[in-house]
Amino acid sequence: MSRSAHPAGPRHGDVLPEGHYLAPPSDLNALDPKVWARTVTRDAEGVATVGGRDGVGGLDVKALAAEFGTPAYILDEQDFRTRARAWRDAFGDGADVYYAGKAFLSKAIVRWLREEGLNLDVCSAGELAVALAAGMPGERIALHGNNKTAQELEHAVKAGVGHIVVDSYQEIELLAAIAESQGVRQPILIRVTVGVEAHTHEFIATAHEDQKFGLSLSGGAAAEAVRRVLAKDSLELRGIHSHIGSQIFDTAGFEVSARRLVGLLAEVRDEHGVELPEIDLGGGLGIAYTSEDDPKQPAEIAASLAEIVRRECASAQLKAPRISVEPGRAIVGPTAFTLYEVGTIKPLEGLRTYVSVDGGMSDNIRTALYDAEYSVALVSRTSEAAPMLVRVVGKHCESGDIVVRDAFLPADLAAGDLIAVPATGAYCRSMASNYNHALRPPVVAVDADGARVIVRRETEEDLLRLDIG
Ligand code: LLP
Repeated sequence: MSRSAHPAGPRHGDVLPEGHYLAPPSDLNALDPKVWARTVTRDAEGVATVGGRDGVGGLDVKALAAEFGTPAYILDEQDFRTRARAWRDAFGDGADVYYAGKAFLSKAIVRWLREEGLNLDVCSAGELAVALAAGMPGERIALHGNNKTAQELEHAVKAGVGHIVVDSYQEIELLAAIAESQGVRQPILIRVTVGVEAHTHEFIATAHEDQKFGLSLSGGAAAEAVRRVLAKDSLELRGIHSHIGSQIFDTAGFEVSARRLVGLLAEVRDEHGVELPEIDLGGGLGIAYTSEDDPKQPAEIAASLAEIVRRECASAQLKAPRISVEPGRAIVGPTAFTLYEVGTIKPLEGLRTYVSVDGGMSDNIRTALYDAEYSVALVSRTSEAAPMLVRVVGKHCESGDIVVRDAFLPADLAAGDLIAVPATGAYCRSMASNYNHALRPPVVAVDADGARVIVRRETEEDLLRLDIG
C-alpha cells in the first residue's frame, strides 16, 4: 500500500470556506459508541472490528473488504436485535412497535423482527412482497401510502394485512369495495394530518397542512373520513394515525400530536358513540449521526408518550387506546456503517482536501438531498498524523456527489486505506440508485459467528438483464 503525506489543510480554529467553524476531534482514532454500531471497536493492531462476543473476536474490516469488496454496508446484527428488543420492551405488551421498512428492508431483517416480536410497516407492494416472502404474518403488517393502487390494496387484503392506513376519501371507497368483494371486514386506521411538523430540534405546530399525506384535522377532513368509514360495513375502523416528521430529538411535537389525536377520539365518541381502540403515533425518532447529536433512549420515549396519551385520555374521560409507534431510523440507522476504499486524494490549497471513495451519492444520497451530516474514520489502521480537513466525495459525475461534507482524517491518509462512515443503516441502501450505472453495494450482516451477505452486490449482468435492448 502506498503512503504519501498530504498538506494538513485548515487546522483547529480556522474558519471553513462557508463560514462554518469546525474543530477536529481530540482523538481521530476514537470510534464514538454514540455513532458506531455497538460491537465496533479496534483490535490490538488498530484495525476496526465488528461482531464478536463482548468486544472480542470481531471481524476486522480489512478481512471484510477482502472478502466482500468495497463499498459495502456492514450491518451489526446483534446491535439491530438489541435495538429492536429495546423498543419492544420499552413499549411492553400494551403497545405495538412497527419497524418502518422504508429505512431498510430485506428478508433477514423481516426474520429478525419476527423473532424479536416487532411488527412491520410497509409502504409499497415491493416492501409487502419482501415481508410476506420472509414469513411475516399478515396481521403483523401495516400498509401505508398516499396513492395505493387497487392491485396493492387487493393484495394486502388477501394477505390479511392487519392495518391498512387509509389516506384519502378515494381510498376509503376503493378499499371498501375491494374488502367487500373478498368478503372481508378490513381493519384500518385513518391517517390524520395533525398540523404539526417536526424536524430535528424543533417543531412547528399549526403550520404544515400543505402536504400530500393524510386528512386534515383542523379542516374537518379527518372527521369526515371517520363518518365515511363508519358507514362502510366492509371496513373496521380501529383508530387513527399520525406521523409528524423525521430525525426528531424532542418529544414536544409528539405531545401536541397525541393531544390532538386524543381530541379527535373524543369527538368521534361524542358524535358516533364509538371509542376507537388504537392510536398510532408514527415514527421519526432521531439518531446520532455525529457526536454532537443526543438522541433519547426508547424507554424514555415510551414512558413520555404513554404518559401524554394517558393524561389526555383521562382529561377527555376516554379509555386509553392501544399505542403503536413506527421507528425505522432509530432501530436500523446506527447498526450499519459504509466501508469504502480511498482512491484519489486532492489537496486544495487553503481550502480542504478532497478524498474520493469508491462509492458516493449512489450509496448515500442523504448528504446531497438533505445536507445530512455524517462523520468518518480511518478504520484499516490508526494514525498519529495531524488532523486534515477533508470532504469525502464519491466517484460520480456530479460535483454535489458528497458523502461527508466536512470532517477530519489523518494527514497521512493514502490511497488504499479503508475509511468508514457510521450510522448509514437507514435510508442509504434503501435509497441507493444506479446513477452512472453504479452497482449497488451489498449489505453484509455480522454477528458473533461471522459475516454473511444478506443483500448481494449488484453486477453488470443485473444492469444488463433489465436493459432488453
Ligand atoms: N411511519 C411513517 C408513516 C413514515 O412516513 C415514516 C418515514 C416512518 C414511520 C419512519 O420514520 P423514521 O423513524 O425512520 O424517521 N428519507 C428520509 C426519511 C423519510 C422518512 C419518511 N417516512 C431520510 O433519509 O431522512
